[in-house]
Amino acid sequence: MQITIKDLEHRYQANTPFERVALFDVNMLIPQNSYTAIIGHTGSGKSTLLQHLNGLLRPTKGSIQVGDITLQANKKEKNIKSIRKKVGIVFQFPEHQLFDETVEKDVCFGPINFGVPEDEAKRRAKEALQMVGLPDKYLEASPFDLSGGQMRRVAIAGVLAMQPEVLVLDEPTAGLDPRGRKEIMDLFYKLHKEQNLTTILVTHSMEDAARYADTIMVMNKGTVGLKGTPREIFGQAEELQKLGLDVPETVLFMKDLGVRLDEKFDEVCLTVEEVAQAIASRMNGGAGS
Ligand SMILES: Nc1ncnc2c1ncn2[C@@H]1O[C@H](COP(=O)(O)OP(=O)(O)O)[C@@H](O)[C@H]1O
Ligand SMILES: [Mg+2]
Repeated sequence: MQITIKDLEHRYQANTPFERVALFDVNMLIPQNSYTAIIGHTGSGKSTLLQHLNGLLRPTKGSIQVGDITLQANKKEKNIKSIRKKVGIVFQFPEHQLFDETVEKDVCFGPINFGVPEDEAKRRAKEALQMVGLPDKYLEASPFDLSGGQMRRVAIAGVLAMQPEVLVLDEPTAGLDPRGRKEIMDLFYKLHKEQNLTTILVTHSMEDAARYADTIMVMNKGTVGLKGTPREIFGQAEELQKLGLDVPETVLFMKDLGVRLDEKFDEVCLTVEEVAQAIASRMNGGAGS
């Protein structure tokens, strides 16, 4: 599902002495089935932007079009419920929102709330739990008896049970250990590919942005600073550092290697595999000379 954001502005507590411009002049085109990573300093407006994608926040100027529904400043949209069905948001620490006595009831809550019959909701709960890699036996468990990582999976299953077409992820791996992070990121990538989910990820991990996304948007002080492919974005290490952001370790490594060997490596390596490839081809290329 395509998303078009035009001239979006958001002011918190508009027209009060506490008014604060959190977003301005935001323009984005997010194609159907794409994977977009949004990076940027704390306070740059990432979470505010995400909350516009399913109508939790309304623009104070500009518009957001999701599929055939448009949310505009100063206009009430009657179809807000259908936008919430299409756009699933996994908030930061989504497990904090678990509340029901069993995993099954918790995962069924969204669908039932949106008018899905109970049998169908239960079927979806089972399916969603399988997608996040939890066996059926957890259906009857209390969410509060699970480990932190399992609770997060249950919360994600609750979003998947709504069968969204767009999946919006706000730092979904915060607080997990490296292994848990990789498992969750691989899960989202698999869903993106297999269920054709248009995916929008806010992350602090430059490695994840480089590895999974096809487009990166850099938010800076409430607006889009840079946009491009991971290779285009991470090829501008100085620009990013000016915005207070890092580049992936692999990019730094290649720069450092270039300095030490007094040679210039032009390739922007986004993964360890690409680093190995670049070095190997240099060695092969140099073998005859
Ligand atoms: N509920 C709120 N009321 C007032 N200001 C807010 C609120 N939420 C966020 N802000 C402000 O809006 C700006 C953007 O915040 P946010 O979207 O949370 O940024 P990020 O997710 O990139 O850290 C910040 O200056 C923040 O202090
Ligand atoms: Mg945030």
